[in-house]
Amino acid sequence: MSERLAAQAGTLAGLARRGRLRALSGRAGVDFASNDYLGLAASPAMTAAAQGALERGEPVGSGGSRLLRGNHPEHEALEAEAGGFFGSEGAGFWPTGFAAISALRATVRLRRDAIFADALIHASMHEGLKLSKAAHYLLPHNDVAAMDAAIAAWRASGGMGTPWIAVESLYSMDGDFAPLAALAQVAARHDALMLVDEAHATGVFGPGGRGLVGNLANRDQIITLHTCGQGAAGMAACCACHHADDQTTGGTHTQRMDTDGRRNQTCLGQREQAQAQCQP
Ligand SMILES: Cc1ncc(COP(=O)(O)O)c(C=O)c1O
Repeated sequence: MSERLAAQAGTLAGLARRGRLRALSGRAGVDFASNDYLGLAASPAMTAAAQGALERGEPVGSGGSRLLRGNHPEHEALEAEAGGFFGSEGAGFWPTGFAAISALRATVRLRRDAIFADALIHASMHEGLKLSKAAHYLLPHNDVAAMDAAIAAWRASGGMGTPWIAVESLYSMDGDFAPLAALAQVAARHDALMLVDEAHATGVFGPGGRGLVGNLANRDQIITLHTCGQGAAGMAACCACHHADDQTTGGTHTQRMDTDGRRNQTCLGQREQAQAQCQP
């Protein structure tokens, strides 16, 4: 064994001695721990949907990036349906929530923007923050006043771009909800965009399981992330942009993501522009 591998083996042996070596275990008992909140993963309806797609002859792989040959009517139908379901003007899908967040974060390229994230936000958001060229700040958990003050201080110190507020609607670790209505007021006050990770609310909370942002008034300033690995019992994730009426979209920033998240841009525009930008 090489010296380097021997060192790794020593580390693993040390973990085992301390009872800290982790291993995969089989499934047993009643499920109170997984993300399959609605118990749909093995449901006959999900199985039938998958079987139906295979029987219709849908391909099991895209064969390439959607920008090239990989785009398929099934993708577009799914995105249109998701957009309708979440009441947004568009929805874009990625293979996982992690990938969606990375793509979103990479879109916040403008050095003038700044991201203000709740300290307890999911690990995927923390990773995404590292990808963004925008300045980012971690704020005490669910502290609206701290969020407000941090954005105000950033502006006062010459911050010129768009502030982004990044939160989860329902935090998985502590099981508490974000004060979304109060945060939305902060966003409105500072002309900020909100990125709300609805991973743990999708399918479970809000009108018809659409998530908790559905209850807010100023949804034109909000981008939501809906992962499919929790309540929806599958995998993948979509981002939905919400735009209200002509009066409110006059100065709205919106994000455009191409389907594989590689070429992105942020824009400031009117309703028509916003609509075009939000199309996946
Ligand atoms: C709050 C939250 N956001 C994002 C993700 C990432 O989703 P995925 O597992 O689809 O990459 C998770 C995964 O558990 C999550 O809990």
